[in-house]
Amino acid sequence: MSLSVVLTGATGGIGRAIAQALIARGDRVVLVSRSADEVGLLARQLGRGAAAGSVEALAVDITRAEGRAAILRVAAERRCDTLINNAAIPSFGALETLDDAHIEAVISTDLVAPMLLTRALLPVLRLHPRATVLNLGSTLGRLGLPGFTVYGAAKSGLRGFSEALRRELSDGPIRVCHLAPRATRTAFNDARVDAYNRATGTRSDSPERVAAAAVAMLDGGPAERFLGFPEALAVRLNGLVPTWLDAAFGAHRAALRAERATPIPSQPIPLESHE
Ligand SMILES: NC(=O)c1ccc[n+]([C@@H]2O[C@H](COP(=O)([O-])OP(=O)(O)OC[C@H]3O[C@@H](n4cnc5c(N)ncnc54)[C@H](OP(=O)(O)O)[C@@H]3O)[C@@H](O)[C@H]2O)c1
Repeated sequence: MSLSVVLTGATGGIGRAIAQALIARGDRVVLVSRSADEVGLLARQLGRGAAAGSVEALAVDITRAEGRAAILRVAAERRCDTLINNAAIPSFGALETLDDAHIEAVISTDLVAPMLLTRALLPVLRLHPRATVLNLGSTLGRLGLPGFTVYGAAKSGLRGFSEALRRELSDGPIRVCHLAPRATRTAFNDARVDAYNRATGTRSDSPERVAAAAVAMLDGGPAERFLGFPEALAVRLNGLVPTWLDAAFGAHRAALRAERATPIPSQPIPLESHE
């Protein structure tokens, strides 16, 4: 039976790949992101050849109450049975270089908003005999790395939220899944993160690989999955005795120091007006 899905972060690299995979197999999808132009264009592109009305664009900010209320309205109208919390913003850099507003925005977007959106949609999801909440986490939510303190904290929180909610709801129709990709080739990673990944030998996946894993989870695959080897093994070891691995990240610290030492391109100096 086809699914009726709310997908946040639909215009991003992974979101787009998930949307394509779902629409190709006949699922109905509400595409959510902040940029009205981008999400509208994506809906038109993906809607070509799909059944009429199966793709809808919704331009809202998930960190805002009115944005989440709009998602709830559309999800109720469309009788959605699946929520994919995929939207997030990145964060990279030594902790001392990150300002208050950035830290608050990352925790708000990557952790608080998915929790609030999930809570809002539970009554809609519960109307179905089978429903799913799928949260997009990260390897970095289970394996803390230098440079990813704030992002790791948000994704670690999302993993804990997913596990606890899965257990809280396990005697009902809603299944809660957590998919943790490793580095994935999307615009989420800027040049500094790409350089860090190269320097540390971090491997990356295509967004299509992550999308295939997401779809497999919606179809009843394991409720929690960490993508990639050796990342999945490192996550397991880290779960057993985290301090064992503490000495293993010298290359990551060096890459972070090198990133801080890279000169910032000079900005044009604004000309004062002398009238
Ligand atoms: N790429 C990686 O290396 C990687 C690795 C592991 C896990 N992940 C996780 O995978 C997920 C998708 O990542 P990605 O690589 O596809 O990122 P991406 O390409 O940067 O896309 C992010 C998406 O989130 C949307 N978004 C951001 N803030 C939003 C807000 N406040 N309200 C609504 N939409 C918002 C963006 O659209 P607008 O800007 O228009 O709102 C965009 O559609 C994220 O949860 C990320 O943490 C990524």
